[in-house]
Amino acid sequence: MAANWTPGSWRGLPIRQQPTYEDAAGLESVETQLASYPPLVFAGEARNLRDRLADVAEGRAFLLQGGDCAESFAEFHPDTIRDTFRVLLQMAVVLTYGAACPVVKVGRMAGQFAKPRSADMETIGDVELLSYRGDIVNRIDFEGDARRPDPQRMIQAYGQAASTLNLLRAFAQGGYADLHQVHRWNLGFIANSAQAARYREFADRIGEALAFMEACGLTSEAVPQIHTTDFFTSHEALLLGYEQALTRVDSTSGDWYDCSAHMLWIGDRTRQPDGAHVEFLRGVANPLGVKVGPSTDPDELIRLLDTLNPSDEAGRMTLIARMGADKVEAMLPKLVRRVKREGRTVVWSCDPMHGNTVKSTSGYKTRHFDRILSEVRGFFAVHEAEGTYAGGVHFEMTGKDVTECTGGAQAISDATLGDRYHTHCDPRLNASQALELAFLIAEELKEQRAGGQRTVAAAS
Ligand code: PEP
Ligand code: CO
Repeated sequence: MAANWTPGSWRGLPIRQQPTYEDAAGLESVETQLASYPPLVFAGEARNLRDRLADVAEGRAFLLQGGDCAESFAEFHPDTIRDTFRVLLQMAVVLTYGAACPVVKVGRMAGQFAKPRSADMETIGDVELLSYRGDIVNRIDFEGDARRPDPQRMIQAYGQAASTLNLLRAFAQGGYADLHQVHRWNLGFIANSAQAARYREFADRIGEALAFMEACGLTSEAVPQIHTTDFFTSHEALLLGYEQALTRVDSTSGDWYDCSAHMLWIGDRTRQPDGAHVEFLRGVANPLGVKVGPSTDPDELIRLLDTLNPSDEAGRMTLIARMGADKVEAMLPKLVRRVKREGRTVVWSCDPMHGNTVKSTSGYKTRHFDRILSEVRGFFAVHEAEGTYAGGVHFEMTGKDVTECTGGAQAISDATLGDRYHTHCDPRLNASQALELAFLIAEELKEQRAGGQRTVAAAS
């Protein structure tokens, strides 16, 4: 257990990106209430994810993490959850089958509500209001007192996270994720997309493989992995009062776990080594992510690893690089090299979204598909050059047919962004773009794995 740590030891340290609640008593009462509620995940599940991520760190599996930039109360609907889950399953199948590599599936779901913002205030015309900080804090509407932080929203977020997780568990374990359903995941809007035919080909081959396995006696009953899947949840641990309230001691190990999600990450804006977010997360035993942007200094990164993972446990740390397509090949190598030289065990994952946000000519915040793809390619190239393992990807995506990122096979243009631009924060890949990307990553991953096998063969 971490020395000199308590679930509240972050309080009083320098802290960024928190709302100021006017009603201190109301806030305290909500936190007390949340602390009495059931945990959303079990410590054993978080340990299971850590073990799976240890496989990724050692090059035996690949991490696929994705979901909304910000979940919203307005879009809370079973179809939304199903559609995102389904696209993640499709992407995972493409990667697993295409690159013959086990995939660890982690949703930015069931708790991804709080958002860091570039400014405290937003001004439109001559009206200035507090910035929107995610539905767990305030409302997005630019009006009246919508932006006033309201602690009661944490209770609603907890309820939505609990229901979302409940449905995800049912999908993952109850038969929806059975590999025999691989064709069915291709329904809905995606069935008419440019990726559908390619996916159908994969699904046909998987169907044939399953039929062959069944003939050999490897049925769903004999091999539960055919019938169910593991699906984990994650979000940015930003709103620390909420995270603390869901932090509990695990009775089997005596360790503390933040039971709001299996995996938590620290954002690029809140990773100060002496800050409150690092202090809070060093004491919980969940697998952790740290966003690593262009301003990351190698010494500081090692300091963060010292604090967050002093015993260098495999699976504890995932470093999520989000450099931008034009910076990744210049900025990432020095960090990868340093982590390698210090002998640290980490998963290197690529977030090709947050370094590639631009304003379109039509005024929307967007990301170009080819920039996203180019950052992924750059990320793989850096790892190939450094002799390290490109272990995962981290996306903002949705199962819906939105028009938020430009490009891709649908050729969404600046002019059509307004058609279905629904995000509460950053622009997401739609289902077709997400699947297109999965096919491209499968190619990269296959090459990486073939390279690895060549190296092993040459050495033996
Ligand atoms: C995010 O993942 O939504 C986010 C805000 O990312 P970053 O901290 O990398 O900017
Ligand atoms: Co975002």
